[in-house]
Amino acid sequence: MKKNTKLYETVAALMAPGKGILAADESDATAGKRLAMVHLPNEPENRQDFREMLFAAQGIEEYISGVIMYDSSIKNFTDDGVPFPDVLTAKGIVPGIKVDLGTVDLYGFKGEVVSQGLDNLAGRLAEYYDLGARFAKWRAVITIDEDELPTDAAITMNCVILARYAQIAQAAGIVPIVEPEVIYAGDHNLAKAELVTTRTLQILFQTLMTYRVDLEGLILKSSMVLAGDMCSEQSTSEQIANATLRTFRLSVPHEVGGIVFLSGGQTPKRSTQNLNEIAKLGQQPWPITFSFSRAIEEPVLLAWQGKPENVPEAQKTLLYVAKMNSLATQGKYDAAADTVLK
Ligand code: G3H
Repeated sequence: MKKNTKLYETVAALMAPGKGILAADESDATAGKRLAMVHLPNEPENRQDFREMLFAAQGIEEYISGVIMYDSSIKNFTDDGVPFPDVLTAKGIVPGIKVDLGTVDLYGFKGEVVSQGLDNLAGRLAEYYDLGARFAKWRAVITIDEDELPTDAAITMNCVILARYAQIAQAAGIVPIVEPEVIYAGDHNLAKAELVTTRTLQILFQTLMTYRVDLEGLILKSSMVLAGDMCSEQSTSEQIANATLRTFRLSVPHEVGGIVFLSGGQTPKRSTQNLNEIAKLGQQPWPITFSFSRAIEEPVLLAWQGKPENVPEAQKTLLYVAKMNSLATQGKYDAAADTVLK
């Protein structure tokens, strides 16, 4: 199959050393939950103000290589009428788009879900490409529950859908980020998370190869391997880093363009600290960085509080968080000296 070198250029831009991806791709409903943290109603103007503040922050391009948007935000404008993707492109940041349409129950598999959105995906991607998007994200959800979940059947179904999405994206000249999120919520321990993540990624890459997805033109978005948030035995960052890299070594082919992490509900500080510990384990076959949403946005939201007079302080906070994560990708983040991230 003829290789599309444009995809590799996008992968290289996204995985540029010292930079990472801002996942500002909440659906309108989820954006409402973020705004509720600072008691703002979920109105289009508030969503626009928050995104504009993030995207227009001076200097973010030093630490941010790409931004994932949602259908309504990639079509949105600044107060001055500049389309959001153009604001990013002007800074050399690659615009991206979340294209799955959320999850539905997997019939016959209690507690398991499958992501939807393949219908007319090619048409939607062509529109997003015209708007400036050069990469996309599709999230699948893998839930751990006692000894029963996840089932191989649910993992496989999600992976086939991820592979089909990746094929369609690559055909459209768009780099697919494939994201099988192993959910952090629960009382499972670290060993169980490692087992499930390894199994999931093994099935995922087997499936991607079966469907001839070009792994060099693709990025994996993964959970860190973590004991569930309700597990009585929590792990150190070092244990998390070791478990996470063991998992990748057993399941991620070396050709894969890069690996980025979601924060998954960990605190901003913990996310950064764990990323730092992973980087400290040295060079890996793939570039590794962050693609956080909550771990970047929450401190910024709290600094902003929806008040125009707080915008400079909130943008300063964004730069600070992005810089700390950039340092973490190099194993240079000093958690003890950081009094800002919580
Ligand atoms: O799909 C998940 C998001 O892109 C990352 O969100 O960092 O808040 O887990 P998170």
